[in-house]
Amino acid sequence: GGRAVIFSGIQPTGVPHLGNYLGAMQQWKRMQDEAAPDTKLIFSVVDLHAITVPRPRGLLSQWKREMFTALLAIGLDPDRCVLFYQSSVPAHSELQWILSCTASTGYLSRMTQWKSKMSLADDVTAFDDKVKRSLKHGLFSYPILQAADVLVHRATHVPVGDDQKQHLEFARECVTNFNSAYGGQHLVKPETIFSPAKRVMSLTKPSAKMSKSDADARSRILFTDSASAIRAKVMAAVTDSTNAVSYDAAARPGVANLLELLSHFDPAGRGAGELAASADLAGAPLKELKTRVADAVNAALAPIRDRFAELLARPDYLAGLVEQGAVRANQSAEETMKIVREAVEL
Ligand code: ADP
Ligand code: NA
Repeated sequence: GGRAVIFSGIQPTGVPHLGNYLGAMQQWKRMQDEAAPDTKLIFSVVDLHAITVPRPRGLLSQWKREMFTALLAIGLDPDRCVLFYQSSVPAHSELQWILSCTASTGYLSRMTQWKSKMSLADDVTAFDDKVKRSLKHGLFSYPILQAADVLVHRATHVPVGDDQKQHLEFARECVTNFNSAYGGQHLVKPETIFSPAKRVMSLTKPSAKMSKSDADARSRILFTDSASAIRAKVMAAVTDSTNAVSYDAAARPGVANLLELLSHFDPAGRGAGELAASADLAGAPLKELKTRVADAVNAALAPIRDRFAELLARPDYLAGLVEQGAVRANQSAEETMKIVREAVEL
C-alpha cells in the first residue's frame, strides 16, 4: 500500500531521565534518521493521557514544555516530524468518543494494566472501599484514547514495547468494530514495530527501573544534570562487594546495569557481557567501570543538555514550533475525521 505513517506518544513527565531517553526517545530519533523520505513521522506529547492520574497543581504546563523541548534537544527535526501536544488536536478526543460507542467494555476490563489496578483494589476493598471508588473512568477507558491517537492519523506503524502490545491489539479491535458497525474500510489497522525495551535500572536500587517517581534523586540521571553531578551519581552507584568487573545479571545487578549503560553508548555496539570480557575491563576495579560509564554518559548528554537549555531560553521560538505542530497535526487528523463523520452521519 501507500505511504507509511509512524505514530508514537510520550507522556509529559517533565525533564526526562536517562531511562526515558534510552528506552523511548532515542528510538524516535533513530526512526527519523532511518525512515524512508516519504514516511510520515508523527510524535505527540500526550497531555490528555497525563491527566488520568492526579498531579500537583501548576506543573502540567511546565512538564509539557520540558518534554517538547527535550524532543527537540535530542535532535528531532520539527520540519521532518509532526511534533505536537495531543490536546491541541480536538479530533483525538472526538474520535475517542466515537470509538467508545463501538468498543467492548469486556475487552477493556481484560486489559492487564486495568486488571492489576482492580485486583489491587479488590485486595484492600474489605478494609477500605475508598480505594475502589478512587479508580477513575479515564484510567479504564484510556486505551480507547490511545487507539484514537493512532487511528486519527491513519498510522500504519506504531513502535511498542512489551507493556503496550495489548493496547495496540485493542486499537486493531477498535478498527474491526468501527468498520463493521459502519460498513466500510473507514479506519486503517496499524502494524506494530516491536522494539525490545532497553531497561535502564536505578543507580541506587538496581532491582528497580530508573524512574522519575523514585524518591531518591540519586537513582536517576536527568537531562539537566551537570557533568559533575552525573559523575557523582555514577561513582556512587550501588554495586556489590566484589571489586572486579564481571557480568552476571542475576548475581551482580548493579554491575550489570553499569555494563548495560556502557553498552548503550559503545561505538562498536558491544553487549554488556562482551564489554565485561574485554581486555581493558575484565577483572578491572569497579571504579574503572564507573569512570568509563560517567565519561560515556557525559559525552552523550552534554550536547543534549546544552541544546535543552538554549531552547528553553527561547520561548517565542518554542511557541512557534508548538503552533506549527498543532496546525500540521490538525490537518492530518481532519483527513480521517471527514471519513469518520461521514460514515457515522455526523
Ligand atoms: P517513569 O517511570 O519515569 O514515570 P514513564 O512511565 O513516564 O517513566 O515512561 C516514559 C517512557 O520512557 C516510556 O516509553 C517508558 O517505557 C520509558 N522508560 C521509563 N523509564 C525507563 C527505564 N528505566 N528504562 C527504559 N525505558 C524507560
Ligand atoms: Na511511570
